[in-house]
Amino acid sequence: MFCKDIHSALEAITGRYEEVVFVHDERIPMPAVSGQHPVIRIEVSEETKGIETVEKIWDRLMETGMTRRGLLVAIGGGALTDMAGFAAATYKRGIEWVAVPTTLLAMVDASTGGKTGINYRGMKNMIGAFYPPIETIIWPGWLKTLPTEEMLSGFGEIIKMSAVSCQKSERLWDRVMRYDLERMDIGELEPIIEECVAAKERIVAADPREEGLRKVLNFGHTFGHALEEIMMDNSQFLALDGTIIWQSQIFTMHNAQLTIIPHGYAVVYGMIAELYLSVVKSGCPKEPLQLLTQTMLHYYGKPQCGCKDRESLLKFMQQDKKNEHAGEINCTLIRGIGKPIINQVISPDEAREAWDYLFSL
Ligand SMILES: NC(=O)c1ccc[n+]([C@@H]2O[C@H](COP(=O)([O-])OP(=O)(O)OC[C@H]3O[C@@H](n4cnc5c(N)ncnc54)[C@H](O)[C@@H]3O)[C@@H](O)[C@H]2O)c1
Repeated sequence: MFCKDIHSALEAITGRYEEVVFVHDERIPMPAVSGQHPVIRIEVSEETKGIETVEKIWDRLMETGMTRRGLLVAIGGGALTDMAGFAAATYKRGIEWVAVPTTLLAMVDASTGGKTGINYRGMKNMIGAFYPPIETIIWPGWLKTLPTEEMLSGFGEIIKMSAVSCQKSERLWDRVMRYDLERMDIGELEPIIEECVAAKERIVAADPREEGLRKVLNFGHTFGHALEEIMMDNSQFLALDGTIIWQSQIFTMHNAQLTIIPHGYAVVYGMIAELYLSVVKSGCPKEPLQLLTQTMLHYYGKPQCGCKDRESLLKFMQQDKKNEHAGEINCTLIRGIGKPIINQVISPDEAREAWDYLFSL
């Protein structure tokens, strides 16, 4: 649900429970809520999105004596809601939880649809559960403090939704492509957020466990996840003798501190590669690729990658958990805006060609 006042929205829900525990991202202020509810502060990053953080949440829930009648309230971006949702799914075989997304990406994507999970052994979201929150509270006010690159990251998922959601898709795509990313007006963004959430809810309701239709939401993610995973694989990252293997206008990733690419950036780069394949394999017109390429070059920067890493990217794609058969590469492509096609198997040579296209821009 959308709300104008986060405090009263939280009061209305937590007031219905005797036992409430908040799990929140330590970087954002905790909203005042009446009652003496325990608060678990979490340091959030892709590196901390792992089993150790979930153990910390389980431990605190046990210390507080939380029973199966309790409520966990997760306040943060997608990494936090994924982890806290997974802790809720598994604590005493499942307790109710509420998602309070504080990033644009978590509002439009991560906190709708019931996927929870953690990274494991360098693989993104490898362990997890389908376990929807009983409510998602969206308060756009959080976006006022969100850094530009996180807004752009969330906008990457908005672009994806506008490209694949079948109903009214053409119109949403046009509105999204016209949105002024320089001004980033939150008021103008609100109806777009609402439409994306509604579109995702429709798709998830039709296919909650990703057996068919829901795979349209993976557009941009086969290539995008491989980029995220190469960034998480530090040993390989450091083996490059300090050479810059990844650089964009906004961030330079050539040392151990900056190994993470924001999820929505990876999705934008992934969509360029998958739009390229959509044009050459599936008859998609060239305009969406041209338009998105302009947006990428202007706002998201230009990805660069060495030859050795392209083969690693391919390996990550072959290990992707979305693949139906081990070793094959499975993508969602589009025939045009609002016309996604799922389960497109692509050959390693086609994948190399799409990476070459992306890195040559
Ligand atoms: N479950 C799903 O369906 C789903 C879908 C998409 C993405 N995801 C996951 O979501 C994660 C990415 O989510 P994200 O983009 O929200 O990143 P994030 O949760 O890592 O947050 C990004 C950064 O913004 C900070 N932050 C959060 N809210 C803020 C605010 N209001 N003001 C200032 N700073 C704030 C965080 O501390 C963090 O540094 C990934 O782990 C991805 O796998 C899950």
